[in-house]
Amino acid sequence: MKVIERIADMRAALAPHDSAAFVPTMGNLHAGHLSLVRIAAERGRPVIASIFVNRLQFGPNDDFARYPRTFERDVELLESAGCDYVFAPTESELYPEPQVCFVHPRAALADTLEGQFRPGFFIGVCTVVLKLFNAVRPRVAVFGKKDYQQLLVVRDMVAQLALPVDILAGETVREAGGLALSSRNAYLDERERAESPRLSAVLSGVEQAIRGGSTDWARLEAAAAAELVAHGWQVDYVAVRRRADLGEPRAGTALVVLGAARLGRTRLIDNREIVDPAR
Ligand code: PAJ
Repeated sequence: MKVIERIADMRAALAPHDSAAFVPTMGNLHAGHLSLVRIAAERGRPVIASIFVNRLQFGPNDDFARYPRTFERDVELLESAGCDYVFAPTESELYPEPQVCFVHPRAALADTLEGQFRPGFFIGVCTVVLKLFNAVRPRVAVFGKKDYQQLLVVRDMVAQLALPVDILAGETVREAGGLALSSRNAYLDERERAESPRLSAVLSGVEQAIRGGSTDWARLEAAAAAELVAHGWQVDYVAVRRRADLGEPRAGTALVVLGAARLGRTRLIDNREIVDPAR
């Protein structure tokens, strides 16, 4: 008999061959999602992608009803990217009765930025991600840096709840002009589409300024937001934060600049990690 003290050792003893790699999505897949599937395929087999538009993470005025659903095409794309299984539960499968148990993520991470403008959003995300993890039981799961705060919130949930899943991060896949690929880009009309790369350009500008030695975060944030507003955007936030925990920035720590803004009815988010601040 063996006495085991550590959770990781306990799991390793029970599931020596468990190596599934998982990519949760809400469908309407694009090259960003598929890049995550490829990362998953390098890290484990079988590769499982889920497609589930999760009502819990949409607010009453959000776009749940009109969220683009393109299941047949998604399945073809997943197959060509090397996915082994698509987990596509119906709503009654995942929520057979109204969900009354929720995961409440760490407030300091989840109540700021997206959480401030979309109250309850990360409760919905964490609850469904935990449920999907329990259904798929992956060894690794891949999330995109495009949703930077989501990645940190999920990582923190996994650590807090000792979930037996390694969380991997995929880089943001962009169009040639810089616009981050997103299912919501489909909502943009022609004029908005032409304007849309400005969000990533403005965030890159903040990144360059900080790399150049600027530490006046508030001025950088305000100038970036003003530039977006001047071009017809409604800005929720442009914020320089610490990469590790989204806390207030300090010189000498790894930083990220995050932004969320609306063009017409379409809300876009993006971020840039600030590499090697020059100090
Ligand atoms: P969804 O928006 O479909 O995104 C699924 C995954 O793809 C997320 O990890 C997201 O960060 C990643 N992703 C989206 N656009 C990307 C891009 N341009 N480059 C790289 N990765 C990108 O995020 C969700 O769904 C949901 O909240 C979910 C986690 C599935 C829970 O419902």
